[in-house]
Amino acid sequence: MKMEELYSGKAKSIYKTDNPKQFIAEFRDSLTAFDGKKMSEAAKKGYYNAQISKKIFEMLEEEGIKTHYIDMVSDTEMLVDAVDIVLIEVIPRNIAAGSITRKYPIEEGTVFENPVMVLDFKSDEFGDPMLNEDIAVAMGIASYEEIEQIRSMALKINDILKNYLKEKGFLLPDFKLEFGRKDGEIVVADEISCDTCRFWDISTGESMDKDIFRFDKGDLSKTYEEVAKRIVPEIFE
Ligand code: TMP
Repeated sequence: MKMEELYSGKAKSIYKTDNPKQFIAEFRDSLTAFDGKKMSEAAKKGYYNAQISKKIFEMLEEEGIKTHYIDMVSDTEMLVDAVDIVLIEVIPRNIAAGSITRKYPIEEGTVFENPVMVLDFKSDEFGDPMLNEDIAVAMGIASYEEIEQIRSMALKINDILKNYLKEKGFLLPDFKLEFGRKDGEIVVADEISCDTCRFWDISTGESMDKDIFRFDKGDLSKTYEEVAKRIVPEIFE
C-alpha cells in the first residue's frame, strides 16, 4: 500500500509502503538537465521509462545481477527494495559522448577499446564531481571493497546491456548506474532508462535518449516511444 512521500527527485518520487523493506518509485513526466537548470515535462515519459526500466531490470536478474526491482504496482509505479543508496554514480563509457568530450580532448564518437569507468559523487549541491576510490572512502560514502564490487558489477552490466541493446538496434555510448545496500549486499538501484542512458540508433547514429531534450534535438515523447517499441513491444499490443 502506497503511503507518504519520502523523497521527490527530479524525475521520480519515492513513497513509503506498509512494508518498511519496500518503497514505491513513481516515474514522473517531469525532466531536467544541467543540474536542474533546464526543466520541462514530456507526455508519457514516466510511463515509457518505467516500462523500459522494468524490462531491463528483469533481464539483468535473469543474467544473475541483483537489482532493487520487485514488481510493478501500476504503469508508472515500481515496487522496489528499500535500499540505502550508495552516493556514487557509476558511468560506463563505450563511445565518447557528452561531458567526457567537453572536459577532455576526446572527440565525440571515439570508440574506447576498453570501457572507461567514471565514478561521480552523487550530490546536486557539489555538482556531481568526479571521484576516485580514495576520495569516496575518505568521505565515508563507501568502502574499498564496496567500490570494487560496484565496479565489477558495472562492467558486467555494461557487457550484458550492450549486447542486449545491439539486438534491438541500439549502440550504448554510455549510461549511469546507481547501487544500494540491501541487508549488506550491493544491488542495482534507481532506473535504467532513456533518461539515464545514451542510446544511438545503430544505423543512423541518431540520439534516442534524453540528449533530445538536453540539446533540443526533437520530440522527446515520440523518441522514447520509439525506444519503448523496440525494448517493450508487448505494451503496444
Ligand atoms: P554525461 O556525458 O552528461 O556525463 O552523462 C553520462 C551518462 O550519464 C549519460 O548516459 C546520461 C547519464 N546521466 C544521468 O543519468 N544523470 C545525470 O545527472 C547525468 C549528468 C548523466
